[in-house]
Order: sequence, then structure tokens, then C-alpha cells
Amino acid sequence: MKHYFLLFFVAMALVPACKDDDGPQPPADGVDLTDIPYSPTAYQLELPPGFPSMNIPADNPLTEQGIDLGRHLFFDPILSVDSTISCASCHDPKFSFTDGKAFSTGVDGQIGTRSSMAIINAAFFENGLFWDGRAASLEDQALQPVENPIEMAESWDNVEKKLRRHPLYQKKFREAFGIKNSKEITRDLAAKAIAQFERILISANSKFDKKFYQNDPDPFLFSDLETDGYFIYFDDLSNSQVAGHCAHCHDGGPLLTSDDYFNNGIEDVATLDDFPDPGRGAVTGKRSDNGKFRAPTLRNIALTAPYMHDGRFQTLEEVVDHYNSGGHFVENVNAQSIQPLHLSEYDKQALIAFLNTFTDTNFVNNPLFQNPFE
Ligand code: HEC
Ligand code: HEC
Repeated sequence: MKHYFLLFFVAMALVPACKDDDGPQPPADGVDLTDIPYSPTAYQLELPPGFPSMNIPADNPLTEQGIDLGRHLFFDPILSVDSTISCASCHDPKFSFTDGKAFSTGVDGQIGTRSSMAIINAAFFENGLFWDGRAASLEDQALQPVENPIEMAESWDNVEKKLRRHPLYQKKFREAFGIKNSKEITRDLAAKAIAQFERILISANSKFDKKFYQNDPDPFLFSDLETDGYFIYFDDLSNSQVAGHCAHCHDGGPLLTSDDYFNNGIEDVATLDDFPDPGRGAVTGKRSDNGKFRAPTLRNIALTAPYMHDGRFQTLEEVVDHYNSGGHFVENVNAQSIQPLHLSEYDKQALIAFLNTFTDTNFVNNPLFQNPFE
């Protein structure tokens, strides 16, 4: 008897899982959704102390229902051609929304040429998204991975078809945007919902925040090592023998990025025409921007190895060794901050200890940011 059961389970395991493309086709004139209530609830955004205001597009206000839809889309492989890859495949909450790899893997195991970026406080970045800044807004960005041939390799026409015939999404698009018919599900609404979800991915609960923005009364919150690292990061030469110049490009405000583009000297090139990846230069067309990349936020940096746009450094020790060495010079390197730093072993450990105070585990474990299908 047992054997029959076993055979049955083996047989079941061989039946391919039902793909979203299969199943009954909806009527040509779509499905009427007006029976489903539409009463969106405005999301109460709380800006943490010290944060700038958030510019939210007037045509995409945050609602509980929009964020919920966006979260489902973000974690759903339905956006990819073979239902294997979701946004979260490359942006996993446990790695602060990166993937822990030098180069991300898209459909069919294809490998890209850049490292995934943390999605953290991204709503506050107003000088372009991606390493090279080529996307102007979160809405604009969210449209791109689906049709990227080495990421999700799907067409938006087809994603719209799949979403329109999916009862869960018929309901959720109705609740979020008040559409009356499943045919009104569009890529633009999907991008809006994803952008809403990304806008609430706010991190403000690290030791660094507690010390500098939440008036934590504990005088021993920072160890001596962390405090010495702080002096190095901010070039506080009245308290430290050495300056790290880090704040010039990564800033010291709560966003931990200047939101600007630099060449930080990682590439050994003879001239500005020789960068394997021209970065910002390919977007602006300016030769002087070749080899520049966005100085990314250092929030949760301990969770997002490997480092740089191509994941070339495995550890923060390697990153600090790079800056300590002075890197490689070409004419668009900022020679005042990219130069030998003369850090001792202790200084390096102090700097890394300070970088570790940017870790916000409340953010990565926030139940509202996890996969809604699990
Ligand atoms: C196959 C892996 C992969 C998938 C799938 C993917 N991304 Fe990304 N994401 C990346 C990589 C790599 C970058 C950096 C690319 C670059 O700079 O050219 C990036 C960058 C981003 C950024 C920019 C962050 C910043 O601070 O500038 C956002 C936002 C983002 N992705 C959101 C999404 C969303 C939303 C989806 C799903 C619709 C998605 N990603 C799907 C790999 C992926
Ligand atoms: C001249 C500007 C500049 C200075 C000074 C600078 N950085 Fe950077 N940093 C950048 C840029 C630009 C990148 C991204 C480069 C790339 O990916 O090609 C970066 C990347 C990083 C990364 C990897 C981020 C990631 O998500 O992969 C870390 C960590 C980092 N910097 C730490 C530091 C520290 C620590 C200091 C001080 C010792 C410092 N930086 C000084 C501009 C700068």
C-alpha cells in the first residue's frame, strides 16, 4: 500500500507546476471589477529625525493598498519570462535588498555586468538611480528590469496579459487604483505600485542613528574603536592623526551618501577612454564622466558584500585597503580625497567598526518588507 502512495507522490512531483500563463483565458472585454470595494487608505509616512522630506509624485500618493500591491509584484516571479526571477531574486531583504553576489543572475542563469544595489532609503535619492544614474525616478526604474534581456527577459505586453487574467491582481489593482475592469491593469500602474513599496523601505534604526539622530542617552553606546573610526571618516584632525576623507563623497547625514558621481580610483587605466565600464560617462556623454559611479549609501554596508559596481572587493577590509593605498590616478579622480591615507592596522579596524554602526537589522527584519507569498 505504502508503495502506491509513494508512486503517486513521485508522479505528482513530475507534473510541472502550473505556470501563470496557463489556465482559463478571461473574456475579451475583460472582467468587471466594480463589485470589489475601492476605498484606499492614505499611508502615514513618518520621516525619521534628521531625514530630508520625501518628494512623492502628485499622481502616485502612498496608500496601504498601493504598497501592498507593490510588495506582491516585487516578490512575484510572474514579472519574468519563465516565472523564475522576481525583483527580490536580486534584491533580497536579508541582504538589505541586494543579492550577495558580484554579478546578479537573471533568467536562464544569465550573468549581468554590474552588482545589484541595496534598495534602502532610495526614495530620498534625487540625482538618478542605478550606479550610473540613468533612471530618473523609482517609477521609471521599475519598468526596466522586466524587459532587460539578462534580468527578467519578458515583455510588458505579456506581463500585462498575465496580470489581467490573475484574480489576485484583478482584486489588488482594483483596491489600489480603483480600476473598473481588468483591462485597465497596465505597466504604469504596476510600476507605480512597486515604487510605492520601495518608498517605505526606510532605514533609520542603526547604532549610528541612535547616537546622532535619536539622542540616545547611553554615553557608552559607541566603543572607543567606533569613535576613533568616526574621527577618521569625518577627517576630525583635532581627535585623530589621520583623515579618511570618506564623508567627502559618502556624506555624514542620515542618508550616508552625497548622491553624486565620482571616480574613486578603483580602475587602473591610462586615459579616460579606457574604462571597461564608463559608468556615468555613458549616460551624460561627457568624457570627463567616464569611470564615475554613484557614491552609494553606506547604510547596511556590512550586509551588502561584495562591493563596488562590479563586486570586485569581497570584504570591507579590502575596500579600506583600496582607499588606504590611494587607488589609481587619472585626471577625473579627486586627488584631495583619493590619495594614500597612511592608516595603521588599528585605524583600519576603527574605520570598519564605525562602518558597522550603520547596520540596521530592524530594517532587514521588518515584517512589512518580507515576501507576502511565504
Ligand atoms: C537579475 C537581477 C535583478 C533583477 C531581477 C532586478 N534587479 Fe534591480 N538592480 C540589479 C542591478 C544589477 C542593479 C544595478 C544596475 C546598474 O546600475 O546598471 C539594480 C538596481 C536597482 C535599483 C537602483 C537602486 C539605486 O539606489 O539606484 C532599484 C530601485 C532596483 N534595482 C529595483 C528593482 C525592481 C523594482 C525590480 C523588479 C521589477 C528589480 N530591481 C529587478 C539587479 C536586478
Ligand atoms: C572621491 C569620492 C569617494 C571617497 C573619498 C570615498 N568613496 Fe567610497 N565610493 C565612492 C564611489 C564613487 C563608489 C562606487 C564606485 C564603484 O562602484 O565603481 C564608492 C564605493 C564605496 C563602497 C562600496 C559600496 C557598495 O555598495 O558596493 C564602500 C564600502 C565605500 N565606498 C567606503 C568608503 C570609505 C570607508 C571611504 C573613506 C576611507 C570612502 N568610501 C571614500 C566614492 C568615494
